[in-house]
Amino acid sequence: MAQQEDVFKKLVAHCKEYGFVFPSSEIYDGLGAVYDYGQNGVELKNNIKKYWWDAMVKLNDNVVGLDSAIFMHPTIWKASGHVDAFNDPLIDNKDSKKRYRADVLIEEQMAKFDDKIEKEINKAKKKFGDEFDEAKFRETNPNVLREQAKKDALHARFSKALNDNNLEELRQIIIDEEIVCPISGTKNWTEVRQFNLMFSTEMGSTADGAMKIYLRPETAQGIFVNFLNVQKTGRMKIPFGIAQIGKAFRNEIVARQFIFRMREFEQMEMQFFVRPGEEMKWFDYWKSFRLKWHKALGMGDENYQYHDHDKLAHYANAATDIEFRMPFGFKEVEGIHSRTDFDLSSHAKYSGKKIEYFDPELNKSYTPYVIETSIGVDRMFLSILAGAYKEEALEGGDTRVVLRLPAVLAPVKLAVLPLIKKDGLPEKAREIMNTMKLEFNCQYDEKDSIGKRYRRQDAIGTPFCVTVDHQTLEDNTVTVRYRDTMQQERINIDALHAMISKQVTGAELFKKLLE
Ligand code: GAP
Repeated sequence: MAQQEDVFKKLVAHCKEYGFVFPSSEIYDGLGAVYDYGQNGVELKNNIKKYWWDAMVKLNDNVVGLDSAIFMHPTIWKASGHVDAFNDPLIDNKDSKKRYRADVLIEEQMAKFDDKIEKEINKAKKKFGDEFDEAKFRETNPNVLREQAKKDALHARFSKALNDNNLEELRQIIIDEEIVCPISGTKNWTEVRQFNLMFSTEMGSTADGAMKIYLRPETAQGIFVNFLNVQKTGRMKIPFGIAQIGKAFRNEIVARQFIFRMREFEQMEMQFFVRPGEEMKWFDYWKSFRLKWHKALGMGDENYQYHDHDKLAHYANAATDIEFRMPFGFKEVEGIHSRTDFDLSSHAKYSGKKIEYFDPELNKSYTPYVIETSIGVDRMFLSILAGAYKEEALEGGDTRVVLRLPAVLAPVKLAVLPLIKKDGLPEKAREIMNTMKLEFNCQYDEKDSIGKRYRRQDAIGTPFCVTVDHQTLEDNTVTVRYRDTMQQERINIDALHAMISKQVTGAELFKKLLE
């Protein structure tokens, strides 16, 4: 675990050093849980958004896009339930004066049981080698069974407390489990209180009677309130979806782990409107489609898992997270929720407008049910970087830091490098660059040895380095050096575009989604 934390610290430092992520307002000592994306970060972020948008909107002919405003009528947040129920249960340690989310403290306690089980399994794996049968070991080993039973009991108690909204019981669990504050090391806890996560501001001058408005905590509501606009103007037939990418804001109290939990972040959300009664079929469909989308990136299928929710949000009748194995354990990257007709019905009630769909096949009107897929751009960004960051030992005792980013997401697709700065090589390299940059994000670099230049590109995850040498001037070939294998290959300049295009455009990945 300590080793993993170490890797995570190095990743955070790497993000800064190579222009991926900077703390916001850094020259003023930063602003808690707010970050800026640098020259490479913004490219990676844009590529993530494009991969999502194309997979959702371009690939599904019944999904269309939207870009709604951040500021919305305040009643929207009353109707959505956020004013009354968008709360986190908080607890303070009286000695350290640090504030924690009570549910997170308990989840971390449950994860400790998993760690213990994992340790037992790893020990046995080493001892028994190829003979080892993990499933049987889990079913029979007394230590594993004991830890699993403790976890299950805690899990059942925790779920009940959450579902009953029982804050006293949450506190009692923390006391009974002897959870200590990581800073003070004491069990001196306050009561658990609810805290609303929405930021508010004022619109209009006070003289006119300013209106209190909220910065949206999710992009979803902008979709619901535009349901009729899009359905009617696009002549959309159910089932259909509306997708949107945009900023969301939450006054997170426990904002830790870099860009994992931020106060200003970006979401990619899609609401899929279906006939009542068909929601579970579509819930399963989108659950599977979304996992395929993640896995198509080739970061390792074993690094993803589903996690069903213990406590359903006020609007949902089913919910699953897609989790990724971060350096600090499996964590939620995306949520898939069956939101029933809660939002549309509630907006109909609060606005006084009829929000229904006339289904020509059934010859009747109804309020559609909704399946939502919701993923944080920043959290996806972190999961991709965490999976891609590698420190590798090379032959001869050397090491390299490489970002094994999926080529489709890499900020720079190819670097063009003249072997030396004379003999017409820079001019030839520029010529190649000028053709390639019409389609790909390229970098030109002529400084330092070729080895150093390769390392710089490895560190930002550039999949291809194209080196121009004297032979290039004679036979129109270049050396392509591949980031992951570090193998080199001589190829004709005329073949370069097709080779790179095949790897860096989404088409190959999208084929996997449609299989
Ligand atoms: N509309 C549903 C919704 O907002 P959510 O589970 O609260 O559901 C969806 O959020 C996704 O948004 C999460 O899976 C996560 O990727 C991202 N997200 C939520 N809060 C975040 C935060 N404070 N910082 C970064 N990403 C966040």
